[in-house]
Amino acid sequence: MNEKQRKRIIDKHRDSFTRHGYHPCALYWSGKDIQDIRFQVSADIGIQDGDSILDVGCGFGDFKCWAEKKELTLDYTGIDLSPDLLAEAEKRHPDAKFLEGDLFDMTFENENFDWVILSGALNEQLNDKSAYAKRVIQRMYRLCRKGVAFNMLDGRYLQAHDLHSQNPEYMLRYCQDLQAKCELHDDYLKNDFSIYMYRA
Ligand SMILES: C[S@@+](CC[C@H](N)C(=O)[O-])C[C@H]1O[C@@H](n2cnc3c(N)ncnc32)[C@H](O)[C@@H]1O
Repeated sequence: MNEKQRKRIIDKHRDSFTRHGYHPCALYWSGKDIQDIRFQVSADIGIQDGDSILDVGCGFGDFKCWAEKKELTLDYTGIDLSPDLLAEAEKRHPDAKFLEGDLFDMTFENENFDWVILSGALNEQLNDKSAYAKRVIQRMYRLCRKGVAFNMLDGRYLQAHDLHSQNPEYMLRYCQDLQAKCELHDDYLKNDFSIYMYRA
């Protein structure tokens, strides 16, 4: 991702947060139900009470809230490009850790997480044929002890000039090439798919 693309993502979330305040629309979700369906699919990889989580593109840290409602207390770290969303996340979750930037700004030396999850953070159009998304997934897999769950927009049903989407089978093959045991889920929302990668 270049500096211009990074700035565009930061600026658009500043604008949406100013417009909507603390609301899923500020994250470009159409509603809470859609956000929650994706959270449920992420958690279904096998996240359990007490697990440590790195949430890439965490927004307001809403996955932590959602998990708490399901009686899952997580050792939660969120990372996001947007300082505006993170400031709100920090207010709401003083017991969590939040990092500003993208995965490649961090070293995470000697640090890893049971699960590394991502919901919605690969939807930005970078016009790079998914090269950045693939690097992010590879890094997520390196940082996990148990596995990775991420979602993307399904390129079979959605192709838009301003959104990044991809063919699920193409992404599945990429993930399998990283030697992970993988599962594809594409039966929960029309325009979305998730991939689970388990640490081999
Ligand atoms: C659709 S929102 C979803 C937020 C959160 N995962 C949720 O579902 O509530 C996408 C988030 O990813 C962040 N984001 C986009 N690209 C990113 C990147 N390369 N690294 C870190 N965060 C990113 C955005 O700032 C935004 O907060």
